[in-house]
Amino acid sequence: MHTKKKTRVWGKTNFTEKHKRKKNNPPPYPGEGRVGKTINERPQLTFGTSGDKGSLFSERGCFPKVRFLSFAHRAKMAGKPETATAEYWTDRWKKGKTDWHREEVHNILFKYVDELTGGRSNLRVFLPLCGKSVDMLWLADQGHNVVGVELAKQAIESFFTENNLTFKVESVKMTASGEPAEVYKCNEKNITIFCCDLYTFEEEDAGGKFDAIWDRGSLSAIVPSANGKRYTKKMHSLLASDGNYMLESHYYEIDRGNRPPASISNELRNEIYGEDFTIKELYVDRLGEDPNRSLSFALDLHYHMFKPKEN
Ligand SMILES: C[S@@+](CC[C@H](N)C(=O)[O-])C[C@H]1O[C@@H](n2cnc3c(N)ncnc32)[C@H](O)[C@@H]1O
Repeated sequence: MHTKKKTRVWGKTNFTEKHKRKKNNPPPYPGEGRVGKTINERPQLTFGTSGDKGSLFSERGCFPKVRFLSFAHRAKMAGKPETATAEYWTDRWKKGKTDWHREEVHNILFKYVDELTGGRSNLRVFLPLCGKSVDMLWLADQGHNVVGVELAKQAIESFFTENNLTFKVESVKMTASGEPAEVYKCNEKNITIFCCDLYTFEEEDAGGKFDAIWDRGSLSAIVPSANGKRYTKKMHSLLASDGNYMLESHYYEIDRGNRPPASISNELRNEIYGEDFTIKELYVDRLGEDPNRSLSFALDLHYHMFKPKEN
């Protein structure tokens, strides 16, 4: 019997009408335009080089006009959202552009859960930038105490309602910022989700360090080329010295600017994790081009296990 291979790439696995319509010009990431093409007949500015059509270089092609502008400024000028902002993500949730979300528990989490937990039960497991991931539910059902951080209230409330769970909300004062944050506590399962910016979240807010971190779509979402080191320092500060940290990352060779999911080379991975963690490669899933995926180009999904170094 012929069975269709299901992949875990951000995007859809079925060939829908939407894909048919966009077949000749599919967006490389759902809901966004294509680098260097036009949208609504309007020239699209890009971050390309002087040879690129529609780049931020002068018409006469002699001098780069905005070479030294910040990413945020360039993004604004190009009419593109800055992808590392709360506005970008809440807007995606509002518009339902959440193609990264999977309805099933991640197969790699199933496969490597014992390596992640060291075979231990009743652990404190952290999911940074958790969205409405059903992996939280599964980990809680394995007897763990699950904590997520997510800035979009809509994502958190959808997680509970879509899984027929009830919750109570408490307002707490965050240790670092002193600002209030809403904390959602599930009534039926050991799941707590902080509605806040990851960078304001400290060990004290969490009630101690975590035994395990499962990072799927989190590092990929924070523009790791710019913010990676800050991000990995945060993870290191939250993880117990005998804890494990499992990561899914993407690698592809086309230039998509700063749009998530970011492409993370081994060099970048080593640069941002190498100081604070030992790195073990678990598995690579090599995906060829597939017009049925929203990320239709060839890409590799890399899985890693990190252990904190004693600094
Ligand atoms: C690509 S999604 C991944 C969600 C989830 N990990 C999954 O696999 O389904 C990234 C999520 O991070 C949230 N997010 C982005 N930046 C954040 C930040 N600085 N602090 C907290 N949440 C953030 C977004 O709202 C979004 O839900």
